[in-house]
Amino acid sequence: MGGADVSERKITLRVNGRTHEVSLPGHRTLLEALRDLGHTDVKNGCEKGDCGACTVLLNGRAVNSCLVLAWQADGATIVTNSGLGTADDPHPIQTAFADAGAVQCGFCTPGLVLSAKALLDANPNPTEAEIREAISGNLCRCTGYSQIVEAVRLAAVRSLKGSGEASHRGQSATDGSHSPSGSRVTGEVQ
Ligand code: FES
Ligand code: FES
Repeated sequence: MGGADVSERKITLRVNGRTHEVSLPGHRTLLEALRDLGHTDVKNGCEKGDCGACTVLLNGRAVNSCLVLAWQADGATIVTNSGLGTADDPHPIQTAFADAGAVQCGFCTPGLVLSAKALLDANPNPTEAEIREAISGNLCRCTGYSQIVEAVRLAAVRSLKGSGEASHRGQSATDGSHSPSGSRVTGEVQ
């Protein structure tokens, strides 16, 4: 008889610097496991890889946690939006989202911030086309995306200025000549 893997597995989830030893059925997704642990900043939008609301960083790569089984993340380093920063001590990307007006209802924001983090870690000075590619798996019903793109550019520019590496590849370069980096990985565990 087919069906879901209900056998329990004991795994270790390392989330935002904390270690959780948990026992879960094999079919439990990382999204479900994280929310069960109280990480409700990981949003449940579609549970089928379409919306990006459930994005987390898994060993530094942006993944849709609804497409990853929890046991596949055993021992991996997981970062959620609240692991980057908090309202009292926000991460510069979170600050840039607020400053650029990229947060309306906010449901998409945790996932978008993490997709932006993965992009900027791989490519500190992305073009607009590269930003749009990196956030292409994150749906937003409210903003129309231009403020989100602006927020990612703002975070990049501020970071480059802060590190003394300011350069200007152009905010609206769209020639596609740079290979996208920091792209979304869906359901893939490395
Ligand atoms: S909940 Fe929509 S992609 Fe995971
Ligand atoms: S701000 Fe509402 S879905 Fe993006």
